[in-house]
Amino acid sequence: MPPKRVGILTGGGDAPGLNAVIRAGVKSALKLGWQVTGIRQGFAGLLKPGLTQNLGSEDVMNILHLGGTILGTSNRDNPFAYPVKEKNRWTVKDYSGEALRNFRALRLDALIAIGGDGTMAIAFELFKRGLPVVGVPKTIDNDVVGTVITFGFDTAVSTATEAIDRLHSTAQSHRRVMVVEVMGRNSGWIALHSGISGGADAILIPEIPFKLDVLCDEVEKRYARRGPQYGMIVAAEGAFPLRGHVRTIKTRERGRQLPTLGGIADYLARQIHKKTKRECRSIVLGHLQRGGMPTTFDRLLSTRFGSAAVRLIQDGKFGHMVANRPPKITSIAMSRVIGRVKRVPLNSDIIRSARNLDISFGDR
Ligand code: F6P
Repeated sequence: MPPKRVGILTGGGDAPGLNAVIRAGVKSALKLGWQVTGIRQGFAGLLKPGLTQNLGSEDVMNILHLGGTILGTSNRDNPFAYPVKEKNRWTVKDYSGEALRNFRALRLDALIAIGGDGTMAIAFELFKRGLPVVGVPKTIDNDVVGTVITFGFDTAVSTATEAIDRLHSTAQSHRRVMVVEVMGRNSGWIALHSGISGGADAILIPEIPFKLDVLCDEVEKRYARRGPQYGMIVAAEGAFPLRGHVRTIKTRERGRQLPTLGGIADYLARQIHKKTKRECRSIVLGHLQRGGMPTTFDRLLSTRFGSAAVRLIQDGKFGHMVANRPPKITSIAMSRVIGRVKRVPLNSDIIRSARNLDISFGDR
C-alpha cells in the first residue's frame, strides 16, 4: 500500500481529550509510515492560507494530558455557510468547493475530522462531494448519537461534580438555595450525572420540562426536613419550564442568529426567591467544564478513538465515525448520526434511580 498522507482537524467547541485523540492518530499513522498534516482552526484551515502544518512525533509529545487542542478549533466556520463581510454587511457563502480544492491541493489521501454533531454534518456533506473523511465524536454534552459516550463528557461531569461538592458547604452555612447551571444545550447528560453524583435535590434537564410551582414545593420540603436546611438545584443550560422557553444570553454573531444559551440559573434563583422568599444564589459553571486536563477515562477513550480512526482509514471506511459500544470501539455511518441528538431516555435506570432517591425533576 502506498504511503498515505492524512489530514487531521478539530472542529466545534473544544473538549478535554482532543489532544489525546490527535496524539493517538498521529502516532498510529506514523507507525504505518504515513505522513500527517495538521489543519488548524477547524474547517477554516481548509479555507484560509497558512493554516496547515506537518505533524511529526515530536509535535505530539507531552500533550496527552493537556486540555484544549494544539490545532485550535472553531464552531463558526462552516464551509457551506461561511460568514463573509461584503459592503459592511455580513452574509454567508458556500465555500465547500474551495475546501475540497484546497484539500486536494494539499495532496491528502484522507481526513480525520474530530468534532460534535456540527462537525460530523459538515464532514458528511463533504464526504458526499468526494472527500475521504472519517469522524471522531467529541462533545462534553455527550449528545452525539451512535456512540454510548463521547470523550470530554467524563471530565466535564467530574468538574461539575467537584463544583457542586464545594457549593454544598456554603449553601448549608447560609441556609440558601443554590442553583448551579451546567452545559447541555439539547440534552441533560451533564446535569443528570453531576447532579446525582453531587447529591442535588433537584435536576432540571431539557428532556423533562419543569413546573416552577413543583420546584418551589420541593425547595420548601428541603427546609421542612430534619437536618441541614438548604437547597441544591442543578440545571442544564437547555432546561426550560413547561410552556416556557430556553433562555439565551446572546443571539447575534458575525451577522447571524447564533443563540448562546445561558441564564436559566439566574432566572430560577429569582423566581424561587419570589415564590418562597428563601435566599437564593445562582452560579454558571460555563466553560470551566470544557477546560483543563482530561480525566483518565477520557484520555483512554480519546486514545482508543484516535487509533481507531486510523484503522478506519486503513479499511477504507470513509463516511464513518468511530463509536464506543462497550466493550468495543466500532464505527457507524455518518449518515445515521447527523441531524439527530442523543437525549437522556426517560425510562432509563438512572432517571428511575434518581426518582427513587427523591431527586426531583421539577415535573411532579
Ligand atoms: O457543545 C458544547 C457546548 O459546550 C454547549 O453545551 C454550549 O451551549 C456550547 O458548547 C457553548 O459554545 P461556545 O463555545 O460557542 O460558547
